[in-house]
Amino acid sequence: MAKRIFALALSLFLLSFSTLANALSLNYYDKTCPMVETTITSVVKKAMMNDQTVPAALLRMFFHDCFIRGCDGSVLLHSTSNNQAEKDGPANISLHAFYVIDNAKKEVEAKCPGVVSCADILALAARDAVALSGGPTWNVQKGRKDGRISKAIDTRLLPAPTFNISQLQQSFAQRGLSIADLVALSGGHTLGFSHCSSFQNRIHNFDTKNDVDPSLQPSFAANLRSVCPLHNTRKNAGATMDTTSTIFDNVYFKLLLQGKSLFTSDEALLSAHETKTLVSKFANSQEDFNRAFVNSMLKMGSLNGGQEVRLNCRAVN
Ligand code: HEM
Ligand SMILES: *[C@@H]1O[C@H](CO)[C@@H](O)[C@H](O)[C@H]1NC(C)=O
Ligand SMILES: *[C@@H]1O[C@H](CO)[C@@H](O)[C@H](O)[C@H]1NC(C)=O
Repeated sequence: MAKRIFALALSLFLLSFSTLANALSLNYYDKTCPMVETTITSVVKKAMMNDQTVPAALLRMFFHDCFIRGCDGSVLLHSTSNNQAEKDGPANISLHAFYVIDNAKKEVEAKCPGVVSCADILALAARDAVALSGGPTWNVQKGRKDGRISKAIDTRLLPAPTFNISQLQQSFAQRGLSIADLVALSGGHTLGFSHCSSFQNRIHNFDTKNDVDPSLQPSFAANLRSVCPLHNTRKNAGATMDTTSTIFDNVYFKLLLQGKSLFTSDEALLSAHETKTLVSKFANSQEDFNRAFVNSMLKMGSLNGGQEVRLNCRAVN
């Protein structure tokens, strides 16, 4: 009963949220900034040629943006003398490549000043990052506004890599995202890199009986332990998210089924029947994964809440 009332309250809350949100559309900039998409794509392409970690960074940046106050560019804001921004919160480990958004903003401002929000630039850059890494592409809904609030403490609202399936489900449900969205979007872990600290819990002092998480494949775990010793002193040490970490493919799901995932939150996708079925489906079919990923990115990308079109992505107007 309490659960039902909670669910009702939550859906009312989300409903009021969606009526407040800015209406998004595919042709939002057709008249005011027709070159916006090609401009951003070329900036992302150029950045990728210099640094192959850029696509992963942009995809994760978009996820963090959308999960805190909706996709409103709050992740892009700098701290000020009286406010510590999301960027400087504890979950900021590995957030980087903000300069790519700045470069895109600069080029877009030169063509159509004061028109395109930083939140839309990030949404488009994340789409380009996936497509240019060999993944699917999609039409991005635009018309997001930039928010004026970014608080380091809010990064506590992001799901943690130590989360179990019920915690993950709850975190996604709070944003109107389903268990199917959770599995598809976790496939974002086909790109990029993780520091040791994010999977430390699985390879040292796992629980009272096991030093190492028994669900990890033994030689994979041994390898992680050699890269990340208990008293790790190399702050950049870590592992790639999958064996093809610059290519957007379904290898993440294949490895997950073999006990070769980095996070407790990845492994958790195997702990419920519904999520495990989806993991197997995506491991078996790149196409099924691509389709589901696009669908869930559109859903995640429609969370919104901003008010202005920032002139500089790092500071409110
Ligand atoms: C399901 C809950 C999720 C958790 C608990 C989680 C957690 C993490 C953690 C801990 C890292 C590594 C940080 C580090 O140590 O450097 C990471 C990296 C990453 N995550 Fe997630 N994540 C989740 C969902 C997502 C989603 C929805 C996306 C995008 C669709 C995503 C995309 C990425 C990418 C691309 C990286 C690599 C970043 C880079 O190499 O710069 N993650 N995630
Ligand atoms: C992450 O936060 C720390 C502590 O506030 C800060 O020193 C560091 O510069 C931040 N990293 C990024 C990428 O902003
Ligand atoms: C997940 O963790 C929470 C908090 O520690 C706990 O209350 C819950 O029972 C756990 N759920 C599962 C499915 O393990």
